[in-house]
Amino acid sequence: MKSIVKNAVITGATSGIGYQMAKILHNKGYSLWLTGRNLKAIEDLKTEFPSCNTLSADLSKESGREDFWQWIGQTPVDLMINNAGYGVWKEVINSEKGELENMIKLNVEILLHFSAEFAKRMVKRGVGRILNVASVAAFFPGPNLAAYYASKAFVLSFSEALNHELRKTKVTVTTLCPGPTKSKFFERAGVKKSPLMEGFLIPHMSAFKVALKGVEGSLKGKRRVVPGFLNYIWTVSPILVPRFFQLRILNYIQNSRKIA
Ligand SMILES: NC(=O)c1ccc[n+]([C@@H]2O[C@H](COP(=O)([O-])OP(=O)(O)OC[C@H]3O[C@@H](n4cnc5c(N)ncnc54)[C@H](OP(=O)(O)O)[C@@H]3O)[C@@H](O)[C@H]2O)c1
Repeated sequence: MKSIVKNAVITGATSGIGYQMAKILHNKGYSLWLTGRNLKAIEDLKTEFPSCNTLSADLSKESGREDFWQWIGQTPVDLMINNAGYGVWKEVINSEKGELENMIKLNVEILLHFSAEFAKRMVKRGVGRILNVASVAAFFPGPNLAAYYASKAFVLSFSEALNHELRKTKVTVTTLCPGPTKSKFFERAGVKKSPLMEGFLIPHMSAFKVALKGVEGSLKGKRRVVPGFLNYIWTVSPILVPRFFQLRILNYIQNSRKIA
C-alpha cells in the first residue's frame, strides 16, 4: 500500500518547544520543514533528522519572509506550527528604538501572515492543521513584558477567531497557551530575578510536555490547549479577578530585581 508522508513546518525549531515538537513529529513519521536562525543548531537538526528540510532565516525581516516562501514553494503542508517568538523583559520606557516593534514583527505579523496564507492553501486542498503558540500571558496585561503579553493576546484572539471562521472546512487552528516553560526564553528576554523566575507561584514545565500537548491537541483539531492544571487555573482566573488587581499581581511576579 502506498504510504502518504505528511509535511509539517515548524518555525523556531532550533530550541525549546519547537525543537521538542520536531522530535515528536519526526517519531510520528512526518516530513519536517524546520526554521531558525542559529546555524550551529540548524546543522544539529540536519544530523538528528537527516531527511528534514531546514531554513536559516530571521522571520522578523522581509528578506526572511521571502526566503521562506522560496524555500517552501508549493509544498502541500499538512501541519503549520507558528512557534517562533520571544519576549523583551524591561519597562517600555527603557526599551531601545525599534526593539519592541521587531518583536511584534515576529510574534504577531509573521504569525498572522503565515496563518492566513496557509489557511487559504489548506482550504483549497480540503484539509490541514495550524498550531499557533500563544501563552498564558495572552489572558493578562503584563507590566515589564507589556508588549510581549499584548502580542500573545493578539495570537489568542486572532487564532480562535480564524478557527471559528474555518468551522465549516476541514482546516483547524489550535492555540497553544503554555505557562512558564524550561527553554531559552527567559535568557533571551533578559531575565531578572523575580517570583516568576523563582517558580514558586507557577512551576516551570518541561518543553517536551508542552510540545506534546500542543501537537496532540492540534492533530485532534482542538481550539485551545493549556498544558498543566495550574496554568489552566491562571487562564480562567480573569473571570474572578478584577483587571487592576491582575496588574498588581503580574507586576509583583515580574518585578525588576536584578540578579546579583
Ligand atoms: N518558555 C516559556 O516560558 C514560554 C511560555 C509561553 C509561551 N512561550 C512561547 O513559546 C514559543 C517558543 O519559545 P521557547 O520557550 O521554546 O523559547 P526558545 O527556546 O527561546 O525558542 C525560540 C525559537 O524561536 C526562534 N526565533 C527567535 N527569534 C527568531 C527570529 N527573529 N526569526 C526566526 N526564528 C526566531 C529561535 O531560533 P534561533 O535561536 O535559531 O534564533 C528558537 O528556535 C515562543 O512563541 C514563546 O513566546 C514560551
